[in-house]
Amino acid sequence: MEKKINRREFMKASVATGAILSMAPSITLAEEQKPIQLSKPSKGSGNPLMQVLWKRQSSRELSSVPLPAEVLSNMLWAAFGTNRPDGKRTAPSARNQQEIDIYVATAKGLYLYDAKANLLKPILAEDIRGVTGRQPFVKEAAVNLIYVADYSRMGTYTEDEKIFYSAADTGFISQNVYLYCASEGLATVVRANIDRQALSKTMKLRADQKIIMAQSVGYPKKTL
Ligand SMILES: Cc1cc2nc3c(=O)[nH]c(=O)nc-3n(C[C@H](O)[C@H](O)[C@H](O)COP(=O)(O)O)c2cc1C
Repeated sequence: MEKKINRREFMKASVATGAILSMAPSITLAEEQKPIQLSKPSKGSGNPLMQVLWKRQSSRELSSVPLPAEVLSNMLWAAFGTNRPDGKRTAPSARNQQEIDIYVATAKGLYLYDAKANLLKPILAEDIRGVTGRQPFVKEAAVNLIYVADYSRMGTYTEDEKIFYSAADTGFISQNVYLYCASEGLATVVRANIDRQALSKTMKLRADQKIIMAQSVGYPKKTL
């Protein structure tokens, strides 16, 4: 009789055999320098909100096993995807300015999440995970999200308002990622402890692009 295995058992078995690398399509290489179309966000998966809230937590024990493409797609959509025909998003933003960009650092390279087109734009064909934070675990986490505010989209706000609203808007996005991770059994932690100057330089950001925070995501190390 066919034995049903749960997600955790599947991960264990897949990682043990290395099978996950061939079975689950992971996002392809930034070296290819072609935009990567993300899969359509799921409408039916996930756990009930109250159960997810019971599980929401920060964890710094993150595996480097790549996230399957579908998981990464769903996570980015949960974070700040487009959920309405008018282009509005899964997280609110002050005056709907949508100034936060999500950069995605993996072992394969650095990408920019384009919510409207539902794709990843290749930015750098190098592994910059180690530069995304001052804590040692960040270089191993499968994914490090970098939340960058584009001040050029923030209109007539004063400098103080730009700082305040971009930090507040990042909080909503980060919490969406926390909830997605709690629902899917992923480990995550949001991080402010970043050498912003070094990271901006590595990412080749403009002066009016400000790194607000980063967030590491991966399968929990202990269960693999
Ligand atoms: C604005 C902000 C900045 C944070 N910066 C870091 C950080 O740089 N490094 C880190 O390991 N955790 C960081 N955290 C995670 C907190 O340490 C964590 O949320 C807190 O200890 C409570 O734990 P919990 O998230 O499991 O409830 C940050 C959290 C927030 C909200």
